[in-house]
Amino acid sequence: PLFDLVITNGICVTAADVARYDVAIKDEKIVLLAASGSLAGVSTKQIIDAEGGYVTPGGVDCHVHLEEPALFGRGTSSDTFETGTRSAVAGGCTTIVAFAPQPKDQPSLLRALELAHEKAHDNCFCDYGFHLLVGNPGEQALSEFAALTEKEGVTSLKIYMTYTALQLRDGEILSVLAEARRHRIFTMIHAENGDVLNWLTDQLESKKLFAPKYHSHSRPPTLEAEATNRAIALSSLISNTPILLVHVSDPGATRRIREAQSNGQPIYAETCPQYLFLTRDDLDKPGFEGAKCVCAPPPRDRASQEVIWTGLRNGTFSVLSSDHCPFNYDDAEHGKKTPIDDDHPVGRFREIPNGIPGIETRLPLVFSSGKLPLTKFVEVTSTNPAKLYGLYPRKGSLIPGVSDADLVVWYPDSDLPNVTLTNSMLHHATDYTPYEGRRVRNWPRYTILRGRVVWDRETGGVVGGKGYGQFLKRGHSTLDGMWEAVEEEGEFDITRL
Ligand code: URP
Ligand code: ZN
Ligand code: ZN
Repeated sequence: PLFDLVITNGICVTAADVARYDVAIKDEKIVLLAASGSLAGVSTKQIIDAEGGYVTPGGVDCHVHLEEPALFGRGTSSDTFETGTRSAVAGGCTTIVAFAPQPKDQPSLLRALELAHEKAHDNCFCDYGFHLLVGNPGEQALSEFAALTEKEGVTSLKIYMTYTALQLRDGEILSVLAEARRHRIFTMIHAENGDVLNWLTDQLESKKLFAPKYHSHSRPPTLEAEATNRAIALSSLISNTPILLVHVSDPGATRRIREAQSNGQPIYAETCPQYLFLTRDDLDKPGFEGAKCVCAPPPRDRASQEVIWTGLRNGTFSVLSSDHCPFNYDDAEHGKKTPIDDDHPVGRFREIPNGIPGIETRLPLVFSSGKLPLTKFVEVTSTNPAKLYGLYPRKGSLIPGVSDADLVVWYPDSDLPNVTLTNSMLHHATDYTPYEGRRVRNWPRYTILRGRVVWDRETGGVVGGKGYGQFLKRGHSTLDGMWEAVEEEGEFDITRL
């Protein structure tokens, strides 16, 4: 046969276009886009009739926590690399970039990376890469940046302005940014003021306000906006070193980011479905239920959701990730449940690990919402993440001869599945979804990874193999030519301040 797989009768969507093409795949690559219907009789090992449904590049989710130790308060990840990536492909995601966490007592980033490799190797259903999560930017860690980019294919890292286990002081952030600039490593920043939120938490507890809903009171919008502003200031001090504000939820932070972008600063931003589909009211459910929506920053209000949607449409946010950070709900030792006693009849919010599952629901929720043009949907969920994290054009596009054959075939408008989300239909190992009972109009019908069907909703479910997912060595970010701009501006020079 000429081809391994042909997809006929689909409407292909990229970040640039929506058009009817047949797609041909050979040796794990897209090799041809041809006039619709023209490949119907061609010799191929396998053919899929998309029946007029959309065909998009596979989802690229570059904010995923799997098999992590307790870092965000109590609790350890409820998903492994196996269960998390199984869930990913069932939701149309073919590539993830997960974190390799470096706790404060581990001086070596390379060792942290090695441990993450051990967990992921031979266990993944989708392709994967790693960002370093830098908890201890000491001399040794900073000296390893060169090896990370040149040898390990790790070109990004994340740092925190909160969480006892991870919080960096401003001087440490500057050290990371200066070294990241030298090695063209892209820095993601979790911008919440940890000292302020600890103080607010103590104040709430002194008033015996322990219920899950007070998580939101302990992390008000100002605390995110302040840290966002500070992160932008720190980036500008290091000669405008590119940064990404992760999981942005607040309109004030969004406005500050937009302003910096308008000033020509290399400030990028990410948001997540929880800031589009949940509100703070979801934390105020009877009993302890609200814990199911405890993440950081917390979901805000309806008006904030609209600001975030607008920010996606107007380009303030380059990427929409899941921030899949799963903990079981019904688990007092490793999960969300906190001790219930006379003093704490609905638990204690400060003990609830921060984070929610969402790797499988990210694409269906957003695709089905009708709130983004389809080209924008592909841009923020696949193409831009691939560019931002050095995977483009192998990932995030449909370029013949170049892009991996990673695709999602959606149901045609004439035959929408209209799914009611329940946790039992998801493929993670977490015992709840914060979106229980929600209606989604569409769902990936097939997910294809490097030419192989790994998710077939009608006839097999997850049909890909554990271990088929490959580790991806990543290049430097290519989004908006960010490093060319750094090249022009020159290296950090303290005498220019
Ligand atoms: O709710 C969240 N975001 N949990 C912690 C992981 C993170 O991204 O900071
Ligand atoms: Zn974070
Ligand atoms: Zn996260």
